[in-house]
Amino acid sequence: QKLELQLEMLEKGGYDHFMLKEIYEQPRSVRDCLRGRVYPQQGKVQLGGIKEYSDKLKNVDRIIIVACGTSWHAGLVGEYLIEEYARVPVEVEYASEFRYRNPIITEKDLVIAISQSGETADTMAAIELAKEKGATIFGVCNVVGASIPRITHAGVYTHAGPEIGVASTKAFTAQVTVLTLIAFYIAQQRGAITRNKLIEYLTELNEIPDLIEQTLKTNESVKAISEKIKDSRNCLFLGRGSSFPVALEGALKLKEISYIHAEGYPAAEMKHGPIALIDEEMPVVFIATKHSSYEKVISNIQEVKARKGQVIAIVTEGDTAVRSMADYVIEIPQTNEAFVPLIATIPLQLLSYHIAVMRGCNVDQPRNLAKSVTVE
Ligand code: G6P
Repeated sequence: QKLELQLEMLEKGGYDHFMLKEIYEQPRSVRDCLRGRVYPQQGKVQLGGIKEYSDKLKNVDRIIIVACGTSWHAGLVGEYLIEEYARVPVEVEYASEFRYRNPIITEKDLVIAISQSGETADTMAAIELAKEKGATIFGVCNVVGASIPRITHAGVYTHAGPEIGVASTKAFTAQVTVLTLIAFYIAQQRGAITRNKLIEYLTELNEIPDLIEQTLKTNESVKAISEKIKDSRNCLFLGRGSSFPVALEGALKLKEISYIHAEGYPAAEMKHGPIALIDEEMPVVFIATKHSSYEKVISNIQEVKARKGQVIAIVTEGDTAVRSMADYVIEIPQTNEAFVPLIATIPLQLLSYHIAVMRGCNVDQPRNLAKSVTVE
């Protein structure tokens, strides 16, 4: 038994839990995911797994993303990025809904199925259905040689390495990285972006692993904030644009491993419901980086403060406006708006991790959850 324990310690690489180890692996996993695919000097994205379909991508007029759980959140980030940079309409669907609602799909459609495990039953069924209707199917998977990569026409692996913690962390950031690459790849194939712009974006994208490394240094301050809110019964996560799916993912992490009821919402939707819940007992986590919706998010923060909610804000380094209003701030490095999800997710993972540990929860194997759901 002692030997078993030692083996487990070894596998966790000195970390207390697989989840923490995997959170800390993200500078490397994102770097692995970018390797051989991004050529900033040439302003070029290369994706070997889908290159045979470059003509299809030139003419595609609709993309449907299907996935479950955390992978579905990555899909939502993908929607923002593909529409913004490649200018192709995207729909994101829960695979479990898509498969049973007689969706309208034709040979002209491209379906992108996202799955860490590559084994999720609902996602597989959604793929089979879209395939029958003649659509082209790409997979974005982590486990090499899993079932989904075998039933799709083409795909891009996330190369995050094995993920053991049930709550997905490094697989999520790798999925978002791949979708970012797909967005720029399609943009490049369709001429929706200039070479100079691509050079600019890809140069910044290549720096993301370093920025993740820097963001991990927020760990101690995130831990201190966790201590303050660990006994809450509810928690709200708010963000706008591509930070909205980040809010959803932050809420999901907290629910999954600490069993605190949490909801993610687009910040502007707060007034249509969640605002009714705000009082001094309600922590509200904002993603309030200095990008397009900054001013609007600031007014949401004021609305929460006016109702005595506790504000925890993820802000761009050096921000002073939010700091003067929020109870706690977590600073993340400045980056292009396109890459905020890759950075802003990190402190949210740490937050849920520390809260779960403080509450004595089984972080790596939360109750009632499975790493991969191969039944309906
Ligand atoms: C389960 C896991 C989640 C995961 C979801 C989809 O619920 O606990 O972490 O996001 O399945 O799994 P997939 O392997 O298809 O990404």
